[in-house]
Amino acid sequence: MLDQVKQLEEEALAALEAVEHSEALSEWNRRYLSKKGTLTQMLHSVGQLSKEDRPAFGQAANKVKVALEAAYEARAEALRRSEMTRELESGAVDVTLPGRPVGPGHLHITTQTLRQIYAIFAEMGFQVYESPDVETDEMNFGLLNMPPHHPARDMWDTFWISDQVLLRTHTSPGQIRVMRERHPDPIRVILPGKCYRYEQITARSEHQFYQVEGLAVGHGIRMTDLIGTLTEFARRLYGPERRIRIRSSYFPFTEPSIEADMDCILCRGEGCRVCRHSGWLEICGAGMVHPVVLQNGGYNPEEWSGFAFGLGVERPAMLKYDIDDIRLFYGNDLRFLRQF
Ligand code: FA5
Repeated sequence: MLDQVKQLEEEALAALEAVEHSEALSEWNRRYLSKKGTLTQMLHSVGQLSKEDRPAFGQAANKVKVALEAAYEARAEALRRSEMTRELESGAVDVTLPGRPVGPGHLHITTQTLRQIYAIFAEMGFQVYESPDVETDEMNFGLLNMPPHHPARDMWDTFWISDQVLLRTHTSPGQIRVMRERHPDPIRVILPGKCYRYEQITARSEHQFYQVEGLAVGHGIRMTDLIGTLTEFARRLYGPERRIRIRSSYFPFTEPSIEADMDCILCRGEGCRVCRHSGWLEICGAGMVHPVVLQNGGYNPEEWSGFAFGLGVERPAMLKYDIDDIRLFYGNDLRFLRQF
């Protein structure tokens, strides 16, 4: 029996020596050391021996068990190490390889257009004044001469946050804010920003778009100053040969009110698809600041006068770059955005 124990030890150690990976090691453990393993079975068979032989056998078998367990642990540790080294070597990162370059981005077409507009008006002495997107009913309508139930409110449906708070439908409420802040000094500012309207999205209309408002308040400001400013703007943005046409219009916050058109940049007034065969393109709504609005801003209309205008941003950019659908601006399609 003692010989069998010795033989088992030699056989198990030789088998362990041949083990090359962790699955084979588990298999070895099952075969020799587990409950059903050869050594455990041998230990259980001690009862079949005579009383005299039992102690020597028990001692020898336990010694082999301890030796095999220690050999198993050592082999497991050696395999763990060699497997880890293999993994590290196969997944090694070559830190000397060049990195993947991140392509440089560029300004969005709206931002580029806004900056062109800022630059043109800066040369004419207009500062940029920012006012909030979230406005009160009073600022967006009431103080601009549109009390509750005024029919002109229907032109500008919007997104309401509460009964009295809304997303502004135009940049005109900024006129009141800048007048109240600058009063009693003269003013020459542009007010750029996003506007929101609850209206159908089409190739020409978004529910969210940019406007640039202009406001000049001073002594003796006249309609001719407004027309001169708009003509100069159109010539600087679209070319020195541009002509301006003035049509009468209606806005509750200007009196008189006008719409300014310029001759079509594509057909030079001949008539084409872009100008709908009229020869003219609308550039903005405008007018002389209404006396009630001047008063709401803190200026006495007997002494002060002013002009205001409200330009879109995407629509002029569409004309300049011949873009036929406003939805492309914020559709996040890089194939479109990369062209500008
Ligand atoms: C106004 O918003 C007036 N506040 C403009 C104004 C200012 C008049 C100061 C007098 C004095 P209107 O609703 O026409 O006016 O809008 C002005 C410009 O905003 C339009 O000419 C157009 O370029 C742009 N715009 C209006 N609605 C949309 C829309 N849904 N999508 C894209 N651009 C729009």
